[in-house]
Amino acid sequence: MKIIVTGGAGFIGGNFVYYELKNHPEDEIICFDKLTYAGNLETLEDAFKNKKFKFVKADIADRKAVYKLFGEEKPDVVVNFAAESHVDRSIENPEIFLQTNVLGTQVLMDACRKYGIKRYHQVSTDEVYGDLPLDRPDLFFTENTPLHTSSPYSASKAGADLLVLAYHRTYGLPVTISRCSNNYGPYHFPEKLIPLMIANALADKPLPVYGKGENVRDWLYVEDHCKAIDLIIHNGRVGEVYNVGGHNEMANIDIVKLICKELGKPESLITYVTDRKGHDLRYAIDPTKIHNELGWLPETKFEDGIKKTIKWYLDNKEWWQEIISGEYQNYYEKMYGDR
Ligand code: NAD
Ligand code: TYD
Repeated sequence: MKIIVTGGAGFIGGNFVYYELKNHPEDEIICFDKLTYAGNLETLEDAFKNKKFKFVKADIADRKAVYKLFGEEKPDVVVNFAAESHVDRSIENPEIFLQTNVLGTQVLMDACRKYGIKRYHQVSTDEVYGDLPLDRPDLFFTENTPLHTSSPYSASKAGADLLVLAYHRTYGLPVTISRCSNNYGPYHFPEKLIPLMIANALADKPLPVYGKGENVRDWLYVEDHCKAIDLIIHNGRVGEVYNVGGHNEMANIDIVKLICKELGKPESLITYVTDRKGHDLRYAIDPTKIHNELGWLPETKFEDGIKKTIKWYLDNKEWWQEIISGEYQNYYEKMYGDR
C-alpha cells in the first residue's frame, strides 16, 4: 500500500510514520507537511533512513500542490493529521484554523475524488463533542453525542468532520474518522500541557496552571492512538466514526504535581494563572465501539507512559531545547507574559 500521511512532521503524525514503517514494512509512506511552527524534520530523522519513506513539503490547502502529489503518487490511503492543533493559538487567531483544518481537508478530499482512493481517514478529536460537567463522572462521549464545540480549534475540527461525512454521503468517498482524546508521548510540541510542564520544571521556571487546575482530560499514550488509526484504515467500516480513548481521566493539577514528583522538583513552582477563555471542563471517551468492532484496547498504562515520556524528554533535550530557544520565546511571552 502507498499511504500519504499529512502532518507527519508533527507530534502524532510523526509517531504514526514510525508505527507504520515498523508494523507494515511493505508499505510506502509519503509524508506531506507544510512545516509550520509545529512541524519539525528532526522528528523524522530516522524515517529518512528508510527507503520506503519520502517527504514532500507543501500545504494541504494548496490545490495545485496536492493534485500534483496525487497525480504522481496515486496513493491508496490518505491519513490526514495536518492541522493547526493548539486551542490557545486558535483563540488568538482563528483564521488559519479554518484555512488549514476545513479548507485543507476539502482540498485533500477533492484530490481523493479526482484521482481515486481506497480510504481517506480523518484524524479528529474528542473536542468536537464540547465538554462534560465535572460533577457527572457517569457521562462519556459516544459516537452519537451531538457536536457542540467550544473553541475556534474544535469548531474547525467539527466543520472538517461534517465535510468528510458529507463527501461520503454525496460522492461515496470511502472515508473513516477517528475522534481521540488527549495524546502524550515523544515529539509532543512544548506548547502543550505535558511537555511544557516538563520543560519548565527542568528549568525551574513557574508551571502555569490555568484557573484552578480542575479541568479533566482523558490521556492516551500516542502509540495507542497510532494503533487505533492503523486498525481503522485496515478494518474499519467506511462512513463510520470511531472514538478512541483509554478511560484515563486526570485533572490538570494532578498531572502537573506528578511531573514535579517524577522530576524531583518542588510543587512551589506551580503558579495559578488566568483561565483559558471558554475552557472545556472535562473530556471523557467511551471507546466501546472500537473495542467491540476492531478489538482495540490501550496497551500503555498512564503510570508507565508518563515515565517513558519524561525519560524521552530527558534523553532528547536537543529536540525540544532547539524549539524553545527560537520563535517559541515570543509565543511564550505573548501567552504567559502577564497572564
Ligand atoms: P501538531 O501541531 O503537533 O502537528 C501538526 C502538523 O501538521 C505539523 O507537522 C504541521 O507542520 C502540519 N501542518 C499544519 N498545517 C499544515 C498545512 N496547511 N499543510 C500541511 N501540513 C500542515 O499536531 P498533533 O498534536 O500531532 O495533531 C495531529 C492531528 O491529530 C490534528 O489533526 C489534531 O487535531 C488531532 N488530534 C490531536 C490530539 C492531541 O492530543 N494532540 C488529540 C486528538 C486529535
Ligand atoms: P492542552 O495540552 O493545550 O490540550 P487541550 O486544550 O487540547 O486539552 O491543554 C491540556 C489542559 O491543560 C487544558 O485543560 C488546558 C491546561 N493547560 C494549563 O493549565 N496550562 C498550560 O500552560 C497549558 C498549555 C494547558
